[in-house]
Amino acid sequence: MKRKIILDVDTGGDDAVATLLAGHHPALELVAVAVTHGNAPLTITLDNTLRVLEAGGLSRVPVYPGADRPLVADPLPGDAVQRAILPLPAPTLAPQTQHAALFLVDYYMSLDGPSTIYAPTGPQTNLALALRLEPRLAARIPRIVTMAGAYLEGNCTPSAEFNVVADPEAARVVFNAGIPITMVGLEVTGQARITPHDVARMRACNTPSARIAADIIDFINTAGWSAGEIYDACAVAALIEPPILTTKAMRVDIELRGELTRGRTVADISGRQKKEPNVDVGVGINRGRFIEIMLEGLGSV
Ligand code: RIB
Ligand code: CA
Repeated sequence: MKRKIILDVDTGGDDAVATLLAGHHPALELVAVAVTHGNAPLTITLDNTLRVLEAGGLSRVPVYPGADRPLVADPLPGDAVQRAILPLPAPTLAPQTQHAALFLVDYYMSLDGPSTIYAPTGPQTNLALALRLEPRLAARIPRIVTMAGAYLEGNCTPSAEFNVVADPEAARVVFNAGIPITMVGLEVTGQARITPHDVARMRACNTPSARIAADIIDFINTAGWSAGEIYDACAVAALIEPPILTTKAMRVDIELRGELTRGRTVADISGRQKKEPNVDVGVGINRGRFIEIMLEGLGSV
């Protein structure tokens, strides 16, 4: 039985690889893709998402444009490489006309909602808006599996990981909604870096998706953005095969105010605070299986 998922992306390169993996791996059914501001303005993240779906043979997947800015703060600039238009043909695909937040409300209030995992790999603005529009969603979404956060060091600031600090107020709404969360943070993604040998194996699959993914990984690596860290694909791999992820239940809260700490996922790692855990925090990943899952999914078509 395929596991149904909805991706929520801010396509940049790693979101693109994650989308190809989610759309083609036999373990998953990619129901829809929501798009948000984040790595780049919504106009670019939407264009990139349409490009990768069309080039990757996934034109059947509906795309819902969402938030073009955070709930409260101004948008963060994002990294220049991640703001780039992906090296793929301009899309002929058209997005849906419904806003992603309204789509999430309709979908998760429908019969299909409770069997579909929600997987944000960018700022969590769309789900925060949907939860404010329809609070009953908190009891309808079975689990969130998200590339977000870090319980040690950030990557956007020493304290904060980009997806969370790009909209901390949204992350606060989502992390406090009572929905089961699996957090695939930087401590996990840093353990799963893709090597040039892995990229060569990907190319050797000789499928359109594997070639596109390899080109994108080379594109973001060459530009010095990721050093092999394909962040968002780790979250999708954890959806495909949950046992590759080692997790620890922790209480995680989102810092909103600190001059140096805004956007931090503040995790009670030891459990000393005796507060009820709200997040299954990724602390390790089986890198070998991660690579094999990527090759299985991207090499399948
Ligand atoms: O911190 C890494 C995350 O920020 C990834 O999801 C990347 O695509 C950017 O959104
Ligand atoms: Ca992303």
